Amino acid sequence: MEYVTLNNGARMPQLGFGVYQIPDAAECQAAVENALDVGYRLIDTAASYGNEEAVGAAVRASGIPRDEVFVTSKLWVSDMSYEGAKRGFDATLKRLGLDYLDLFLFHQPFGDIFGAWRAMEELYEQGVVRAIGVANFYPDHLANLMAFTNVTPAVDQIECNVFFQRHEDQTYLESRDVTMESWAPFAEGHNDLFHNPVLTAIGGAHGKSVAQVALRWQLQRGIVCIPKSVRRERMEQNFDVFDFVLSDDEMARIAALDEHESTFFSHHDPKTVEMICGLARNV
Ligand SMILES: NC(=O)c1ccc[n+]([C@@H]2O[C@H](COP(=O)([O-])OP(=O)(O)OC[C@H]3O[C@@H](n4cnc5c(N)ncnc54)[C@H](OP(=O)(O)O)[C@@H]3O)[C@@H](O)[C@H]2O)c1
Repeated sequence: MEYVTLNNGARMPQLGFGVYQIPDAAECQAAVENALDVGYRLIDTAASYGNEEAVGAAVRASGIPRDEVFVTSKLWVSDMSYEGAKRGFDATLKRLGLDYLDLFLFHQPFGDIFGAWRAMEELYEQGVVRAIGVANFYPDHLANLMAFTNVTPAVDQIECNVFFQRHEDQTYLESRDVTMESWAPFAEGHNDLFHNPVLTAIGGAHGKSVAQVALRWQLQRGIVCIPKSVRRERMEQNFDVFDFVLSDDEMARIAALDEHESTFFSHHDPKTVEMICGLARNV
């Protein structure tokens, strides 16, 4: 496993396991137990995924020492205030059945981000979370947050895949010492990613799958990746990405796939903001 060092000195595995869209508790617990058995040491969940209990149960059942598993969760929009963040964090920790988190993220750049960040800073100072960060913050969101707060986010978890590559955003994050973590490294299969001819040809040259090429390309860019799968053979495949290297020419061919826009939605689109904040109101 490769590790990255966050801006506060904490170490984070560069490859982890995401559990979005595994709402069934038994299925989620089995998936995380399998992932830990395969060798993953970073598990990415969120309050809004509805599976923190199952993640915590799997971590405890694994018998792996707690300090060897990096557990991330996220604060949902309905808790984006000072009191809400404290309450949301306590509820997350309780559901996970853990006594600290490795990384706690804002899930979305909406709501009272300044009040909520003050609470995050206090949780960090208390030592109940080893690092704090954000998700879905574009550089302008991040610049605004950092201009009026004390602790620089350690991580920004943003959509990144071969169709939406985020090179400029990565440059900005690196300039501010914020680690870039990608979500949906396979774009959840959008744009027929798993049959993309460029990725298929590159994979063929290395005896690797499209999924492995998509992950390797991000790892070589220094990005933290958290692919999701409920199938053990795919977990193993997605973990087996440290024994080959993409050439500069292959990296350039993948760079040419960039469409410069989300395959999901933009967090700058008012319709997206209304949709996400509307979900929060209905919680
Ligand atoms: N912060 C945010 O707003 C945000 C948003 C989205 C996601 N995330 C995080 O990022 C993680 C990853 O993103 P994601 O789950 O949305 O999507 P993803 O990892 O891009 O794609 C997951 C999909 O790919 C399939 N798959 C996995 N490995 C495969 C392989 N080797 N070959 C073929 N198909 C494969 C999975 O199917 P099977 O499960 O059937 O194998 C699933 O349908 C999430 O789980 C979550 O932790 C965060």
